[in-house]
Amino acid sequence: MTAPASSAPPSPAPAPYRGAPERHPRRPPLPFDPGTDPETVELTGPVFGPSDVGDLDADLTRQHPGVPLGERIIVTGRVRDRAGRPVRGQLVEIWQANAAGRYAHRQDRNPAPADPNFTGAGRCRTDDHGRYAFTTIRPGAYPLPGERTWRPAHIHFSFFGSAFTQRLVTQMYFPGDPLLPYDEILASVPDPADRHRLVATYDHARSLPAGPLAYRWDVVLDGPSATWTEEGR
Ligand SMILES: [Fe+2]
Repeated sequence: MTAPASSAPPSPAPAPYRGAPERHPRRPPLPFDPGTDPETVELTGPVFGPSDVGDLDADLTRQHPGVPLGERIIVTGRVRDRAGRPVRGQLVEIWQANAAGRYAHRQDRNPAPADPNFTGAGRCRTDDHGRYAFTTIRPGAYPLPGERTWRPAHIHFSFFGSAFTQRLVTQMYFPGDPLLPYDEILASVPDPADRHRLVATYDHARSLPAGPLAYRWDVVLDGPSATWTEEGR
């Protein structure tokens, strides 16, 4: 017995996803030799270029219509290699908590208030002298889960090198923070000199009379004076 023909109108063709054209690659694919090991592919693959970083990306206080709460600060520094040479065109990324010590992340369980005008993420590229500069809000300290201790104020940093496999991740601390001796992560760095290098210095000459306070934090990517990173050296 044959089923009766349906009287329902045919289903309309699915509407195209509006975001698809925006996410579709605009450049032709790069040639790829399947015999090449993944590590080598990463070293020759595409990375962030000058056009991928906008001028406002380095100012975390201007990413929303309103002004974020907290103390506005400037963080600058130079990125060098083991020989002291400036590392130019280096992608530097930062992420941090807001002034109350809360991240703009749904998994952050800190009951401190969120700030709708502060995302806490920024990036820039080093100039020809290896310098970077961010304008941001001084992050607040926050308690670790389980009430073990508090984390001192800090800013997470990432340096991408010339390929994704060369990424280095570390943290910058603020001078004079009374929580520094109690930080579990800082305490895990065995060499006191390495711990000292993770703490920025207050830059009074750069702190304008009515402007944001400035901090300076220089970074060495490799060698015996290398800045400590979370993956080790
Ligand atoms: Fe953190």
